[in-house]
Amino acid sequence: MHPFVELDRVSLSYGGGTLAVDGLSLTVEQGQFAAVVGPSGCGKSTLMKLVTGLMPPTRGGVIVDGQEVAGPLKICGMGFQNPTLLPWRTTLRNLMLPLEIVRPHRHKLRRERAGYEAEAKRLLASVGLAGFEDKFPWQLSGGMQQRVSLCRALIHGPKLLMLDEPFGALDAFTREELWAVLQDVWMERRFTGILVTHDLREAVYLADVVYVMTARPGRVMSVHRIDLPRPRNLETTFTPEFGRLVHALRDEISNVREAVR
Ligand SMILES: Nc1ncnc2c1ncn2[C@@H]1O[C@H](COP(=O)(O)OP(=O)(O)OP(=O)(O)O)[C@@H](O)[C@H]1O
Ligand SMILES: [Mg+2]
Repeated sequence: MHPFVELDRVSLSYGGGTLAVDGLSLTVEQGQFAAVVGPSGCGKSTLMKLVTGLMPPTRGGVIVDGQEVAGPLKICGMGFQNPTLLPWRTTLRNLMLPLEIVRPHRHKLRRERAGYEAEAKRLLASVGLAGFEDKFPWQLSGGMQQRVSLCRALIHGPKLLMLDEPFGALDAFTREELWAVLQDVWMERRFTGILVTHDLREAVYLADVVYVMTARPGRVMSVHRIDLPRPRNLETTFTPEFGRLVHALRDEISNVREAVR
């Protein structure tokens, strides 16, 4: 196995002195899908900012794909709780946005637009949105917008996908549908993934490995390997093994929350 994301005893203090994470170490292997869970405010979004190069660590090192992270990463796609689509752009044009910004696509886009558009349409079809290319975000449901947002994070073929509570704003049924969608695209493309979530069932459904963080200043408290066979589906979530894994995570997080009180 080849480590793709490596944090080595990382600390980050925000201006004003808030120590958000301290002594945070974690490794995600290439092609692995990791989930990060932990109490609110423990530094999960901070971890995302460190890995994507949006914030430099105060101490320690962050290595992605064999290189020390020194600024915003181009090989990375990102998704957030709100889909953040541009309302004046159609689905297809929202998808093309990263290609207009990220090199080398920016330079190739004019000559190879047809090829890029075909790829965008293929990606949309793979998340069940064939035929919605010309709709505007306000013509789509929340779940559809989040699918578009996922496609946009993947359009430039990133080696790393970072998701910060991507399904938090969706109803339970839509959320569970999107677990399957995300698992499908990951199984097809095998990028390395890091998913921050408060939903422990979501973590167990999607991840190969779940990292549990302590309360702030956050560091990794424990690591749970999830060896459930893939593809997982809703039936998987009703198996005793799935229940046992979720339970173990729930107990740990309850203990952290108790300790803080
Ligand atoms: N830009 C910032 N400036 C100062 N402090 C910050 C900043 N961003 C986050 N913090 C602080 O750092 C700590 C960790 O925040 P972070 O957003 O990483 O937590 P989180 O685990 O993502 O929480 P949640 O689960 O609620 O999203 C918090 O105490 C927060 O107040
Ligand atoms: Mg957060």
